[in-house]
Amino acid sequence: MNNDVFKAVKVTDDVYWVGAIDWGIRDFHGYLTSRGTTYNAFLVIDDKITLIDTVKAQYKDELMARIASIIDPKEISVIISNHSEMDHTGCLPAIIDEVKPDKVYASTMGAKTIKAHFGQDIDIEAVKEGDSISLGNMDVTFMETRMLHWPDSMFSYIPQKKILFSQDGFGMHYASFERFADQVDDTILDHEGAKYYANILLPYSGLVPKTFAKVKAAGIELDIIAPDHGPIWRTPEDIKFILDSYSVWSAQKVEAKAVVIFDTMWDATALMARVISEGIESTGVHVKLMPLKGSHRSDVATEVLNAGALVVGSPTINNNIFPTVADVLSYLRGLKRKNMVGAAFGSYGWSGEAIPQIEKYFEEMKIDIASDSVRVQYVPTEDDLVKCREMGIEIGNKVIANVDAE
Ligand code: FEO
Repeated sequence: MNNDVFKAVKVTDDVYWVGAIDWGIRDFHGYLTSRGTTYNAFLVIDDKITLIDTVKAQYKDELMARIASIIDPKEISVIISNHSEMDHTGCLPAIIDEVKPDKVYASTMGAKTIKAHFGQDIDIEAVKEGDSISLGNMDVTFMETRMLHWPDSMFSYIPQKKILFSQDGFGMHYASFERFADQVDDTILDHEGAKYYANILLPYSGLVPKTFAKVKAAGIELDIIAPDHGPIWRTPEDIKFILDSYSVWSAQKVEAKAVVIFDTMWDATALMARVISEGIESTGVHVKLMPLKGSHRSDVATEVLNAGALVVGSPTINNNIFPTVADVLSYLRGLKRKNMVGAAFGSYGWSGEAIPQIEKYFEEMKIDIASDSVRVQYVPTEDDLVKCREMGIEIGNKVIANVDAE
């Protein structure tokens, strides 16, 4: 590809963004990426020219063109892979073939994972926690961040520039020409950052404060955080914003908010959802009512991130929970959101298995039942709807009590 097509973006005097922008992606392994994404890679110019992370396989030419706008890619002598998921390593074997670097570094687990993906012949040198390499004037120090969010995940840090390459950590799926958080609207940073955390990092929340403590103990100072997706954080205000957000999200505190999800066949369960929501709202608890015909599982996960209650409605179809409801509950079960209460409701025709099936999910998700379920045959009566409103009030009061208890 012609070197004048895609250009690198300067991050500091010696560090360039050379990644790719994926404007069209909407399904990132089940996550609705409404605003596309970027695969960030970084070129460090020192005696040993270093590439930190690569991009998804089909964006190799874009990566190489951005590198070539600064140097001849064959001058790269070191490649560091902070995370082996294929949005960051998909083109790694092809780049190694083309560039022939002296060394390719990854964490111990990363070396294994890269070989598992691309074959045992690929030559990777494993580094471990606290190891450091010299690039000439600058060093790169490695910090393992296992299970944030893969076993291989690690951070790389250049102390001379106080820049942390944090792979998926502090990232977001957001395609844009703006490379830095201070160029992006705050509401987008907040929403897409939370969505990324809720869908990718939430199950590993317990590791976040431990990682922060490790960073503090190592005396790491941060002028720039450069993640593998979305904007780069380079102002003290923005760095504080994203670090504080991670502290809040990982604490999984209860807020006065309930997420009500439902699907419906002939509108009976939908009517119940509306009445239950009115009951919750009457207690002062904010309700996010999400009909699953139009709400993606990853958007539900985002709303659940700061909710105190998950309320689930499903009709029974062929002795089963409705498929869209099962999809979302299965997804949320994997994300392991803590500290929520829940309640189930729904209409049925002749068997009504959906409610116990929802409550089984609650049990597996360690969600305490806030109110007895409301199960209605065919169409809710006036009395049934009164029960729905009372159920909503009971849920709302339980959420408020849990907020007050914190
Ligand atoms: Fe962006 Fe876990 O890969």
